[in-house]
Amino acid sequence: MIILGIETSCDDTGVAVYDGNAGLLSHVLYSQVEPALYGGVVPELASRDHLRKITPLIEECLKRAGISRNEIDGVAYTAGPGLIGALLVGAVYGRSLAWALEIPSLAVHHMEAHLLAPLLETHAPEFPFLALLVSGGHTMLVEVSGLGQYQILGETLDDAVGEAFDKTAKLLGLEYPGGPKLARLAEQGHHGKFKFPRPMVNRPGLDFSFSGLKTHTLTTWQRSDQSDQTRADIALEFQSAVVDTLRIKCHRAMEQTGLRRLVIAGGVGANLALRSALHHLVKDLEGELFFPRIEFCTDNGAMVAFCGYLHLAQGERDGSEFIVRPRWELTSSQSG
Ligand code: KG4
Ligand code: ZN
Repeated sequence: MIILGIETSCDDTGVAVYDGNAGLLSHVLYSQVEPALYGGVVPELASRDHLRKITPLIEECLKRAGISRNEIDGVAYTAGPGLIGALLVGAVYGRSLAWALEIPSLAVHHMEAHLLAPLLETHAPEFPFLALLVSGGHTMLVEVSGLGQYQILGETLDDAVGEAFDKTAKLLGLEYPGGPKLARLAEQGHHGKFKFPRPMVNRPGLDFSFSGLKTHTLTTWQRSDQSDQTRADIALEFQSAVVDTLRIKCHRAMEQTGLRRLVIAGGVGANLALRSALHHLVKDLEGELFFPRIEFCTDNGAMVAFCGYLHLAQGERDGSEFIVRPRWELTSSQSG
């Protein structure tokens, strides 16, 4: 079964072809440039850019996969959560293409696609596992019992981790999306000059909160000498506070569930300090850590093609109604 996957939930247009026998045949990605110019994603501009790029990207992706349209057996597209105009581009395109080719289509949940992305790798986790989903829009700990069987153990009460990284980076004067830039700046930082809190770790439970940390960074920066070294020191302390908090909650979740396979997924999963901290945690607990390659941590078409393939192979299909869901609970996408 060969599936074309389309991702247009935010500001990346991703397309991929996944073959149930041969694996991933090709994937292409276009990352929009406007967000860096405007300090964030402008929804209407993002939609128009998706519209401009989607046809050439699909052509390119099929060419790289060495197949024609007629060889596709199904189309999977991100139907939410995300920006409504952006989602509509991928959904309308995906459904129209499937209709014209008389093949099934399937609406994919963006976070489920992130969650399953580590299964694309040769070192893939078996079910059940624990997943830390950390992206620009979401932060959650999920117990994954099987395909479509997800229980959310903890979520952020305010900002998502990626959002906290981006907002903190902005107030330190870094360009959008600031997360990776802040991580690079932190490499030049030294510990010890500033003390940052570890939010919510003294409270029971697995929920997160990151907005206080962002405010703490702002006041620390405003009261500092604002030198380049201070900027790097603050970036390092912010990153360490986030990473420590995530590590402590992952530890707690592993103890609570008894699960020893931990998956990191979502854009912030590209953060090397986070990967390293979780690697040590899992080693101490004699568990195993899994993550997608860096390019499949952030938004991409491969995870959508793959997630769509797993569901389509089970016989799931879109109904006749056309729906995109800018807000969509992960647990309401469950099949099991
Ligand atoms: O999953 P993703 O590509 O898009 C969403 O679905 O949100 O995640 C993007 C987020 C952004 O907030 C970006 O700053 C953050 O992931 N990010 C990072 C790193 N790479 C991407 N944050 C910290 N360190 C990184 N290396
Ligand atoms: Zn994402």
